[in-house]
Amino acid sequence: MSVDLVLKNAKIFAFSRIIEAGLAIEDGKIFKIAKEPNLPKSSEKIDLNGLLVFPGIIDVHVHLRDQELSYKEDFLSGTSAAANGGVTLVVDMPNNKPTTMDSATLRERMNIASGKTIVNIAFYSAFPADIGEIKRIADEGARAFKIFLSHKVGGLDPNDDVAVTEAFMETSKLNLPVSVHAEDGMLLQENIRKLRLNKRDDLDAYPEAHSQEVEVKGISRAINLAGKSGAHTHVCHVSTAEGLKTVLNAKKDGLPVSCEVTPNHLFLSVRHASKIGSIALTNPPLRSQSDVSYLQSALEKGLIDVVASDHAPHALKEKEGSSIWDISAGIVGLETMLPLLLTHVNRGYLSVSTLVKVMAEKPAEIFGFKDRGYIKEDKCADLVVVDLKKEWVINPSEFHSKAKFSPFEGWRMKGKPVKTFVNGLLVMDDGEIVAKPGTGRIIM
Ligand code: DOR
Ligand code: ZN
Ligand code: ZN
Repeated sequence: MSVDLVLKNAKIFAFSRIIEAGLAIEDGKIFKIAKEPNLPKSSEKIDLNGLLVFPGIIDVHVHLRDQELSYKEDFLSGTSAAANGGVTLVVDMPNNKPTTMDSATLRERMNIASGKTIVNIAFYSAFPADIGEIKRIADEGARAFKIFLSHKVGGLDPNDDVAVTEAFMETSKLNLPVSVHAEDGMLLQENIRKLRLNKRDDLDAYPEAHSQEVEVKGISRAINLAGKSGAHTHVCHVSTAEGLKTVLNAKKDGLPVSCEVTPNHLFLSVRHASKIGSIALTNPPLRSQSDVSYLQSALEKGLIDVVASDHAPHALKEKEGSSIWDISAGIVGLETMLPLLLTHVNRGYLSVSTLVKVMAEKPAEIFGFKDRGYIKEDKCADLVVVDLKKEWVINPSEFHSKAKFSPFEGWRMKGKPVKTFVNGLLVMDDGEIVAKPGTGRIIM
C-alpha cells in the first residue's frame, strides 16, 4: 500500500523515549512508526535530517478573543501563532465578548471559528445562570468549564457558594473538568479598595492586591469544591510556592485536582516586572525569585501536571496607562512557550520526557483528548518537529499573534519548533504558515 506522507530520518519521542525511526501518516493518523526500510511507500516524503519529533503541544489555556475583541486577536491570527509555537491544539477560554456561557453563545463561537483555524481547537464555557443549561453546553461540544473565583464571568456569581457547588456537581456528572482561576474575590476586592483609598495606582500596587494570600485562599476553595463535587478541578496558572504546596497536598490526599504553571511564572519574577513595566503585567502577577525557583524545581521533579501559555493578547494601547487599574493584564505566550521550555532543557534543568508529559500527554489525559498527546500508531498525526540546537533571539515583531510585544523580547533561545503538522498536514514550516485556514478542526 501507499500512504499519504512519510517523515524519515527522525528522532521520535515515542513509548516514553527517543527512538531513531520514521513515521508513516495516512488519513491524518499515525499509521506506522518504524525504521525506514519497514515503512510503506508514500506519495510524499520529508527528510527530517535527524531532528526531534514530539507529539504536538496541547495548550489548555488560550484566550483567542475574536468576535467583538478581534482587534486583540482572532481565530486565524491566534491559531497561526499556535502553529508557529508548535501548538497543535488550543483550548479556548470563555471570557470573550460575548462571553461563552450557554449553548447559543458556544454554538455561535464555534460557527465563527469553523473554517478559520490553522490548528485544532476545543472550547471552554463559563457557567450559565441556569444549572440546567450545563448539560446543554456539554452536548453542544464544550470540553471543559472555566470559573473565575475572583469576579463574575458568565451567568454564575462566584460568591454564591451554593450555586457554585451545584455547578461543580453537575459538571462532575458529565465527567468534564473545571478549570479555575483561583483568586479569592472577597479578599482581592478588599485589597483593591484599601489600595485605591490610599491613592495607590503604581505597578507595585498590583501584586499587593493580587497577593499570595488571595491565591492560596482561592486555591483552597477550588480544592474544597473538588472534594465536595468529585469534579476534576484544574487549578490554572499557579504562581506561588504556597499555592503550589496547597495543590500538592490536596493531590496527596487523593482529591481530583491538577495544576498548571505558565512560562511567565516559571521564568519571570518581580525583578522583570519592575524593569519591563506594564508589558509584563499579568494576573496572577509575577512573584519573587524564590517562588520562581520553587516552581522550576517542582517542574523538574515532575510535580507539575501541565504547562500552558495563558496566551492573553491585548492591543498595545491597552497595556499602557498611568494607573495600574486601567491597564489590561495578560501576556502572549503561544510563540514563546515551547522555545522557553526547550531552552530550559538545553540548560539541563528539564528532561525531554517531562517536557512532553506536561505539554502533551497530561493535557490530553486531563481534558480527555483520547486520540492525541502521544506519538503512537492510530493516534492523530499532530506533531511538532524541533531543532534542539537552533540558537535565536525572540523578536515579537515576527509574531503571528496580533500582539507584537512580549516581556521575553531579546531573550536568547536554544531550541525552536521548525515544522508543525496538524491532522497529518504540514501547517508551519520554518516560521511560515503554509496551510489554509480551516486546516484545524473543532474538537468536541
Ligand atoms: O492576565 C490575565 N489575562 N489573567 C486573566 O485571568 C485573564 C487574562 C485575559 O483574558 O486577558
Ligand atoms: Zn486566569
Ligand atoms: Zn487566562
